[in-house]
Amino acid sequence: MKKVSKGVFPKKFFWGGAISANQSEGVWNSHGKGPSVADIMMCSKNKDNKNSIITVESIKKNLNDSNNNRYPKRQGIDFYHNFKEDLEIMSQMGINMFRTSISWARLFPRGDESEPNKEGIEFYRKLFQSCKEKGIEPLVTLSHYEMPIYLVNFYGGWKNIKLIDFFVHFCEVVLNEFKGLVNYWITFNEIDSVLRHPFISAGLINEDQTIKNMYQAMHYQYLASAKVVKLFKKEDPHIQMGCMTTGLMTYPFTCKPEDVLIAQKSRHYMYLSCDVQINGRYPISMERYLIEELGVNISEADKKILSESKCDFLAFSYYMSITQGNDKNQQQAYGNTISGIKNPYLESSDWGWQIDPLGLRTLCQDLYNRYNVPLFIVENGLGAIDHVSNLGLIEDTYRIDYTEKHLIQLEKAINEDYIDIMGYLAWGIIDIVSASSAEMEKRYGFIYVDIDNVGKGTGKRIPKKSFYWFKKVINSRGRNITTDKEIGGE
Ligand code: BG6
Repeated sequence: MKKVSKGVFPKKFFWGGAISANQSEGVWNSHGKGPSVADIMMCSKNKDNKNSIITVESIKKNLNDSNNNRYPKRQGIDFYHNFKEDLEIMSQMGINMFRTSISWARLFPRGDESEPNKEGIEFYRKLFQSCKEKGIEPLVTLSHYEMPIYLVNFYGGWKNIKLIDFFVHFCEVVLNEFKGLVNYWITFNEIDSVLRHPFISAGLINEDQTIKNMYQAMHYQYLASAKVVKLFKKEDPHIQMGCMTTGLMTYPFTCKPEDVLIAQKSRHYMYLSCDVQINGRYPISMERYLIEELGVNISEADKKILSESKCDFLAFSYYMSITQGNDKNQQQAYGNTISGIKNPYLESSDWGWQIDPLGLRTLCQDLYNRYNVPLFIVENGLGAIDHVSNLGLIEDTYRIDYTEKHLIQLEKAINEDYIDIMGYLAWGIIDIVSASSAEMEKRYGFIYVDIDNVGKGTGKRIPKKSFYWFKKVINSRGRNITTDKEIGGE
């Protein structure tokens, strides 16, 4: 029997960080890359920001706007040119996994071509090779809010069934090019988010954002994901395929039955994507609702495809919990593109996201007991405003505190609750542009990047206090996770 050592993370555990292509790479419309949905998103601090209004005209207008400083994702942190140096700094922390995504628009600028952009292929080949050389296992997301904008303009986004074949073709090429270099994959980042932000997740413009279209688009993504999982596993059974959801621990605001019902509905929504991608089928009630009430096109052949392909692990992001109830007068909390009632027992981040480390443990229990597959925390972190001191130091004790509290609960989930957890990846291990607000000011990294909301700055990388703290945590396998206020450098 496998023995657990309380207080210590397992020997076989992935420690690392995660970013996405569209929030980091830059080089948005050169070196063969086409524009993606991310490249038209304005910084939330920009007074002209109308990211919530996405029409054919607004897409055209933003694409023609050559003032890149208004669109921070176009420049990211120029990871495209700096990835070697960035990996080198990251590796000094002792990480053994790095998660990023492959930009579909970098390999297929329009999305529907048959031949890929060779320069894009070479970029990712070098990136994954560099990871391997440093003993860092890449975990690669195949779709992370960055579909080619051409697929929106000419096909209407994921409500169009044709996107399945385009996406599968993109993945086939990726598999052929990078097999042997990448063994861990996630098909869609937070696939459930189609309902929360239908444009960046599925390329649906405002007039197409009906409930039916959103579920249809999500269904087509499930099918695409199932086909890709099957394809990759057939090619190499050792490859590990993950599905990913937005990990949201959900509480009823009170024990009033109405609140409990609302909270339960919200939880069932979170389960949906895991049910489909891990169990290989929709829950019966959901399937009936989608087909009978909304008229979503889900055929018997589709169901067969879903049933033949199951993910190996369940990956999720975890930043916060939400509280649901039916009292409209309660103060609202903000969150990861979802809001709920403010939970009086929790503190909030500068962006109003409610910090709930214990919720992570409860969520792990919930998901593991429901799905019985290994779990993987592929995003967790604190978005905060960092200040660089006159001495050039970034004293982010708040980030250490946040991460430490989550790791303490994770260790308990592993050793006290007997949950199989593959690893922990800190979101934005290096500062990148925020996904929801397209700003640099909201930073998650253990490594500071000197760029501001309008692209000004030297681009210099500076390890923050949390960098040295995380290094110690990894080196000791979390043996003595402490918020060591004295850690300031080496
Ligand atoms: C996750 C996304 O939901 O949240 C990331 O997968 C994103 O892409 C992260 O960056 C944090 O959200 P934000 O909006 O603060 O960047």
